[in-house]
Amino acid sequence: MFCMKIGVMDSGIGGITTLARLMTVCGGEYLYVRDARSPYGDKSDEFVLRRTLCACKELRNRGAEIIVLACNTATNVAIDALRSLDKRFVYIGVEPAVKPALKSCKKVAVALTPAAARQKKFAKLVEGGGDRIKIIAIPQLATEIERRLYCETDLMKLAETLYAHCDDCDGLVLGCTHYIFLKKYISAIDPNLRLFDGNDGVARRLFGFTGYMGDVSVRFLQIK
Ligand code: DGL
Repeated sequence: MFCMKIGVMDSGIGGITTLARLMTVCGGEYLYVRDARSPYGDKSDEFVLRRTLCACKELRNRGAEIIVLACNTATNVAIDALRSLDKRFVYIGVEPAVKPALKSCKKVAVALTPAAARQKKFAKLVEGGGDRIKIIAIPQLATEIERRLYCETDLMKLAETLYAHCDDCDGLVLGCTHYIFLKKYISAIDPNLRLFDGNDGVARRLFGFTGYMGDVSVRFLQIK
């Protein structure tokens, strides 16, 4: 069976939601890198670009043959630069699932980090959506999810904070991989709100390159 070493990066824990999907759909051998200097979502573009390049360099030095940016902020800020630095290497980014959400909902809230929300790439993704799209960029939300991951009560409060912005929407796109950890809490608050994320799209893209690779293994790393 054909097997490649797949690098996956995120500022922190959000990309683990992507990794879980990749492991299920594609199998195979993974290296996951997080950044000790996370989060990215409230930092400058220059910082996010520099740290994403650093994470990808680490993954390539350790033998990654394809890299998945399991971070919407890093994808928006850095994927074009990464691709232009090495046109032959495959980088797969995560994209907020705006298109599928617009197909099945009347009005869609798109939640993502402030750093991702100000990028031209994101503006292009939502252009044409007009008043059917509501953009939600709550500072520090990813940081708080990371910090409170093991406290269900706190995660419920964070879900309530996010849900409070979705008043007139019937769909919510979880456009930051960290926010996917709030899914079950948001569904408990409002089972009728339709939730979308980009992880299936990433898994499909990777599968297109690798097919099913068999037994799964993962190694976790951190850049300092
Ligand atoms: N999980 C990341 C994203 O998808 C980054 C969140 C952060 O570091 O603020 O945007």
